Amino acid sequence: MIKIISDSVTKTEELGRKIASILKGDEIIAMFGDLGAGKTAFTRGLALGLGFEYGVSSPTFAIVNEYNGKFNIYHFDMYRISSEDDLYSTGFYDYLDNGVIVIEWSENIEYALDDNAIRITIKKGDEDNLRIFTIEGLDEYENIIT
Ligand SMILES: Nc1ncnc2c1ncn2[C@@H]1O[C@H](COP(=O)(O)OP(=O)(O)OP(=O)(O)O)[C@@H](O)[C@H]1O
Ligand SMILES: [Mg+2]
Repeated sequence: MIKIISDSVTKTEELGRKIASILKGDEIIAMFGDLGAGKTAFTRGLALGLGFEYGVSSPTFAIVNEYNGKFNIYHFDMYRISSEDDLYSTGFYDYLDNGVIVIEWSENIEYALDDNAIRITIKKGDEDNLRIFTIEGLDEYENIIT
């Protein structure tokens, strides 16, 4: 488990870029954390790191946004997903293995996550811009990420 403190949006995006640099193209990145935690900011950095420069926002209504960079990136927002039927109808299972899957609000689909998913939990700190990242599944890359 890796713990990282970010004190700005830029640092959060930078963390996303670093993690992008170690991806092979078929990972599941499951993000946990409240409204405004920084899940989308992190995903923007990750997409930038994979060469996608055209803007990233939470796909709250679309459920999934697709970006094309070095790999396909499928950016899910599970905020409104409340059952396995809902999840199934997003096409989630068809996207697996076809690119990098990044999931906001993984809390809502925890049962569908593979054991080797990369798990990233973001908590707000005591000050406005502080965010504490806990990253599970990337221990072997600690010196690249930190
Ligand atoms: N260190 C930080 N890292 C990321 N965002 C930060 C940080 N400090 C402050 N912020 C602010 O927190 C907010 C993060 O927004 P973002 O859209 O990334 O959150 P989110 O987790 O995707 O929320 P939602 O669940 O609503 O989609 C932004 O307003 C950003 O300016
Ligand atoms: Mg978001």
